[in-house]
Amino acid sequence: MKELEKIVPSAEIPVMEPQRQFYFMDIAKQYVARLEEKKGRKLTFCVNTFGCQMNARDSEKLCGILEAVGYVETDTEEADFVIYNTCTVRENANNKVYGRLGYLQGLKRKNPDMIIALCGCMMQEEKVVEKLKKSYRYVNLIFGTHNIYKFAELIVQTFESDKMVIDIWKDTDKIVEELPVERKYRFKSGVNIMFGCNNFCSYCIVPYVRGRERSRKPQDIIREIEGLVADGVVEVMLLGQNVNSYGKNLDVPVTFAELLQEIEKIDGLERIRFMTSHPKDLSDELIEVMKHSKKICKHLHLPLQSGSSRVLKEMNRRYTKEQYLALVDRIRAAVPDIALTTDIIVGFPGETEEDFEETMDVVRKVQYDSAFTFIYSKRTGTPAAEKEDQVPEAVVKERFDRLLAEVQTIAAKKAQAYEGQTLPVLVEEVNEHDKNLVTGRLSNNSVVHFPGDSSLIGKIVDVCLKECKGFYYMGEQCEK
Ligand code: 5AD
Ligand code: SF4
Repeated sequence: MKELEKIVPSAEIPVMEPQRQFYFMDIAKQYVARLEEKKGRKLTFCVNTFGCQMNARDSEKLCGILEAVGYVETDTEEADFVIYNTCTVRENANNKVYGRLGYLQGLKRKNPDMIIALCGCMMQEEKVVEKLKKSYRYVNLIFGTHNIYKFAELIVQTFESDKMVIDIWKDTDKIVEELPVERKYRFKSGVNIMFGCNNFCSYCIVPYVRGRERSRKPQDIIREIEGLVADGVVEVMLLGQNVNSYGKNLDVPVTFAELLQEIEKIDGLERIRFMTSHPKDLSDELIEVMKHSKKICKHLHLPLQSGSSRVLKEMNRRYTKEQYLALVDRIRAAVPDIALTTDIIVGFPGETEEDFEETMDVVRKVQYDSAFTFIYSKRTGTPAAEKEDQVPEAVVKERFDRLLAEVQTIAAKKAQAYEGQTLPVLVEEVNEHDKNLVTGRLSNNSVVHFPGDSSLIGKIVDVCLKECKGFYYMGEQCEK
């Protein structure tokens, strides 16, 4: 991108964050303005997010910076700045990115000023960066998960360099607060409470790409949520790879349950969600807090991964089938109407038919409201990838189909039980297919469509669930 004349800074570059990034935002703004002048129009950006809620939240940060430096958001990739925030939890996520990059190259031929950037978990893998350097020379900027706060600085470097800018850190203990964020929804927001993971489940690449566990200070989290509420947010989703181990490494340790109690006190905040809970760390203290809370949603995502204690041990999950089931009993005893959802992996190396039947047994016993089912994906660098006894594809596929059928039958039955009830719904948007309807969510996270207009967006209203359509409801607004 080096055709622009270099902007000579008028002041010294600040060393401290976030001041340093505000300084670079200012410089980036000047480059964007020059390009605008050259093109005679505003510059556009498109952020394409792969993967989990953490990435979705990171993308809001990327959008915040891009808007701050003068780009205007567009939903097509025919934009002046296209960034992919990537995921690498399963191999097919990587393949999707390579596939789409070919398409971007075509767009760049039409608009040579276009900047193509890649960030997120996939960039933390060395072999990915090698491949990009070799075969995808037209990518302008690559950075990872640890230095996303430096995005403004990296944009400036990209404007000033004629080579691919690459900045990947192995790990960090740094958390930079107070940078601009552009929320996707006015009334709800993700809030990072911690970063990274220390669990090293044997199949999982996350600890290698997201680094060690780091918790944000409770006062920073509370301040952020208070600010969000003042800005119209009524629902927050607290985000961490393992929220139940929140606060253990802070100078003044705080438990997740204590943090929740503090968040509950924030006036104007109506709903609290969180994700993800590791069963091994879910405390009785947390169950007690959930039982008495008026704001914590009636939904818990509790990844099972496998129902076989033998496989769980191989997975390094550090709980047994029996411990998991006992935990579910304790949660249900305290919060009877809670919706439980889960993640399950089929075909972990060495999984036998008996092991798989144990998973099916847990699924039948727990009666999940919904479950994400995954086919095991071999991730280079994880201990499980070294195992010899990978399960044949056809066997995995057959088990996967059986599991999915079971999960779906149970989920439909569970959803049916709410038909006829009147429950509060947070309205999220006008229905995509029918403009006379709005779409919202129950406390238990189920989706409801009902007649209404955009004036309801962001409000919590009572809706009678007239008809269950399997995974969602058709309803009508009514008095309780
Ligand atoms: N293969 C398949 N699924 C995986 N997950 C994590 N790593 C893998 C893998 N290698 C699933 C787990 C986790 C979810 C986010 O992704 O179920 O809970
Ligand atoms: Fe991966 Fe396990 Fe950490 Fe979840 S808890 S991110 S599955 S290592």
